[in-house]
Amino acid sequence: MAAPPIVDLTDDELRARGGLKWTYPPTDVLPAWVAETDVAPDPVVRDAVAAAVAAGGFGYPPFDASSALPEVFAAYARRQWGWQVPASSVVSTVDVMHGILLALTTLCADAPVIVPTPTYPPFLQVVPQSRRELVTIPLDPDAERATLDLGRIDAAMAAGARTVLLANPHNPWGRAFTRDELVALLEVVHRYGGRVVSDEIHAGLVLPGAVHVPLATLPGGAEVTTTLMSATKAWNMPALKCAQIVAGDTADLKALRALPMVDNHSTSTLGIVAAQAAYAGGQPWLDAWVQRLATNRAVYEEAVAEHLPDARHRPLEATYLAWLDVRAYGHTDPARVALQRGRVMVNDGRSFGPGGEGHVRVNLGTSPERIERIVRAVAAGLT
Ligand SMILES: Cc1ncc(COP(=O)(O)O)c(C=O)c1O
Repeated sequence: MAAPPIVDLTDDELRARGGLKWTYPPTDVLPAWVAETDVAPDPVVRDAVAAAVAAGGFGYPPFDASSALPEVFAAYARRQWGWQVPASSVVSTVDVMHGILLALTTLCADAPVIVPTPTYPPFLQVVPQSRRELVTIPLDPDAERATLDLGRIDAAMAAGARTVLLANPHNPWGRAFTRDELVALLEVVHRYGGRVVSDEIHAGLVLPGAVHVPLATLPGGAEVTTTLMSATKAWNMPALKCAQIVAGDTADLKALRALPMVDNHSTSTLGIVAAQAAYAGGQPWLDAWVQRLATNRAVYEEAVAEHLPDARHRPLEATYLAWLDVRAYGHTDPARVALQRGRVMVNDGRSFGPGGEGHVRVNLGTSPERIERIVRAVAAGLT
């Protein structure tokens, strides 16, 4: 079967869709910031949602026990990653960030939470929101490879931290952590009776050359891990609000199922339809999208080498979010300078926490042609 085409949308079509990425910046600014992508949806997902809309599927979402989604997700996890998830351990929630909040408050010790930084900015908010102390462990910006600092994680746990909040694949490091790295992390966590909340929302977006290893598949992994998953990032449908919490053991599952309705305020009926369609029939489109992202990665690397020769970046292993070290250009707020002088919107590295200074995050989820323009515009601003 021919690969489904990836359909690029025009600037006008993207603005008309009404999403954050294209509606916030002024029309003369090229958006390369928030994690949304610039292509038409997977027809499999679009048609399933359209059919549900036509049928008036606007009721309350079903309970997990009477929904097909947990089983469809479990089958997908088995096919994609060899992960044997019991469908009964999949708990629906509205989105990944709310799922993380529930995991922290319901399942994790009332003790400090470790977040390797730079990190997806809401991680810096969700820990205080859970009324736990945030312990950031910044990546050395000069390190050749972005790796978890196990020595400092060990020290933070020795000092009382009990939870690691991890994104794997990592945003914005662009890493898909290897099995060995994750096994080593689990060793530290087990030493202190700790836990990991593992946000694997980018799992479907691992680029050629890397693989996704669900933490819960490793020996001793499941019992200390709560995994957050969602089809909304790979298939670009965050509007539809549907995420999965995978409980690591029966005690966690019981605690999550016992949450009052007002705490786990459910998910979206259309989101369930979309997620089922994506997990059951969306892989051909996602494969084509990942191929496109591999092309985009190459286009980006070439454009950075040509237009921003003093910028540094590590090879992108996963996600379409590129972390770019522009310290060499000497701006305190490079994102603002790029906006003002280059008319391009990228994310300010400082909002990703300690270690983000002098960096910007660039969204590559678009056409190769726009990537060229984005890099040229950042260069026009910074140089
Ligand atoms: C690592 C990570 N986690 C969570 C989210 C947001 O997920 P949700 O919209 O389901 O809360 C994002 C969005 O980009 C992300 O990059």
